[in-house]
Amino acid sequence: MCGIIAYTGKRQAAGILYEGLTRLEYRGYDSAGIALSGGQRICCVKRAGRVSAIADALTMPGNCGIGHTRWATHGGAEDKNAHPHVCGKFAVVHNGIIENYMRLKAELADMGHVFSSDTDSETAAHLLEAYYRGDLLEAVQKTVRELEGSFALCLLCADYPDRVVCVRQKSPLIVGAGADGMLAASDIPALGACKKIRVLSDGEIALLSPEGAEFFDFSLSSLPAAFTDNAVRSVAVEKGRYAHFMRKEIGEEGRAVRDTARAFDGREGARLAADAGLFSRIYIAACGTAYHSALTGASLLEEALRVPVTAETAGEFCCRRPLLGRDTLVLAVSQSGETADTLAAGRLAKKRGARLAVLTNAGYSTLARLADYRFLTYAGVEVGVAATKTYAAQLAFFYALAAFLRGGRAAFLEKFPAVHKKLLREEGRIRRLAADVASARGVYFIGRGADYPSALEGSLKLREVSYLPGAGYAAGELKHGSIALLDETAVVVAVVTQKRLKEKSKNAVCEVRSRGAKVIAVTPFSDVPADAVLPLPPCPQRYYPLASEVPLQLLAYHTALARGLDPDRPRNLAKSVTVE
Ligand code: F6R
Repeated sequence: MCGIIAYTGKRQAAGILYEGLTRLEYRGYDSAGIALSGGQRICCVKRAGRVSAIADALTMPGNCGIGHTRWATHGGAEDKNAHPHVCGKFAVVHNGIIENYMRLKAELADMGHVFSSDTDSETAAHLLEAYYRGDLLEAVQKTVRELEGSFALCLLCADYPDRVVCVRQKSPLIVGAGADGMLAASDIPALGACKKIRVLSDGEIALLSPEGAEFFDFSLSSLPAAFTDNAVRSVAVEKGRYAHFMRKEIGEEGRAVRDTARAFDGREGARLAADAGLFSRIYIAACGTAYHSALTGASLLEEALRVPVTAETAGEFCCRRPLLGRDTLVLAVSQSGETADTLAAGRLAKKRGARLAVLTNAGYSTLARLADYRFLTYAGVEVGVAATKTYAAQLAFFYALAAFLRGGRAAFLEKFPAVHKKLLREEGRIRRLAADVASARGVYFIGRGADYPSALEGSLKLREVSYLPGAGYAAGELKHGSIALLDETAVVVAVVTQKRLKEKSKNAVCEVRSRGAKVIAVTPFSDVPADAVLPLPPCPQRYYPLASEVPLQLLAYHTALARGLDPDRPRNLAKSVTVE
């Protein structure tokens, strides 16, 4: 949710910032901008649109600068709201929300400041200019004391042409040390070749120079540099032979599942198992796709531990005052580890005395650092905005943990890559079906029991990349109202994998077909009375959620293509939702 980047060093900054922004574009692509300092003045190029819209910034000379790619919160996706915001000697890029910006803006306007955007972020540039008396860090300190809300900032001051100041408060920011200069960015993939990194904590300031970095708290007391090795350094974030990251990442699910199972942390699992007797209830809190994996995880953990386990959307979890105490375990699931609602759920759990377990794909993330028990998925960096391989890896983790808690191993996960290969062979059939789905007026997904989370996730995936209206329903619930949506213009995707629920699911398929809707069944069975079938290879019953997601993701992908859309950059979305 907005990506920010900064560089100061020996090389030309524009190219480094531009390349970094392309790697951060998954955080928002409403506008982009770059500002460079040098020669007592700041030059800035910014525009609505994707990073490629500011390719002319590459010709700007200078060795020190900042960049931004935006997911609009305050103010539309227009040129005037693009960052960096420049005021006098200062240029600022911001990720987060400055909650008290209206009051600050009014006060600054009274002092004669003229604003040129509708954003909350511009107030930071004006505050810096208002407080600046020749001492950069003093102006930064006074500014951050005024700001409420969440903010990661990188800023330039024309009087300090080779310095960048970085500030973190509740939005991620990481400093990287490269061979020829210093970088800072919202996420590690943008830190390219940096061998060493330092993840800033809330309330920290970094002053970058070509030679290195100094760190301070908000009282300007020095902090240790404490850089660590950058383990994510060599990740490939290229599409290779694929047209889109989404398709490439669906293709990586076999490996992601196997790697997550193989790397399951038995020591952390054993600590959790040893404490399990302390917990009389467990909540799993997550958002979006991670919430759907949590629904499957809740069933698996409840069965393994024989205590009530409930999956909740993290935002609602915080709103509804859940029962939390020393007898509660909260497991927060987030591929990015930076989702604001999930972080808030984790913080609430800790504040109320509960223990916090975390499952994330980003070991360096804010959520990971809050954890009492930390678990990782090994999906690799996911660039596509729609979560695919990280969902598969989260499911794999839940299977591995549940098996571990029962004293065994989830052996099927080793075999999943072969099953995944078979599933991919159905892509031609899925592509042909997608052409029909693309012209439906509504697409609904149904499933029972273990298939219900798959229906929810299949529907979310299709909605987010194809923009087709629809929803996922528990198959038995459909007839309690939503069946009124169905007619010949609707498509229903029925996930039917559970033997013991098959007859009931077949009834639901008959009910929707009799209203004229076309039914696509995702099933290993040959007797589901659907209009079309996406066949699943044989799997052990409990593992079907892993298998059924592959054709559902491919269906979403090919429907987006059939509608002429870019599945990697769905409108209005950002991969990492760092605002509540
Ligand atoms: C959907 C999707 C989102 C995320 C959600 C949580 O494809 O990607 O629904 O799953 O924003 O993100 P994380 O897992 O990073 O907390």
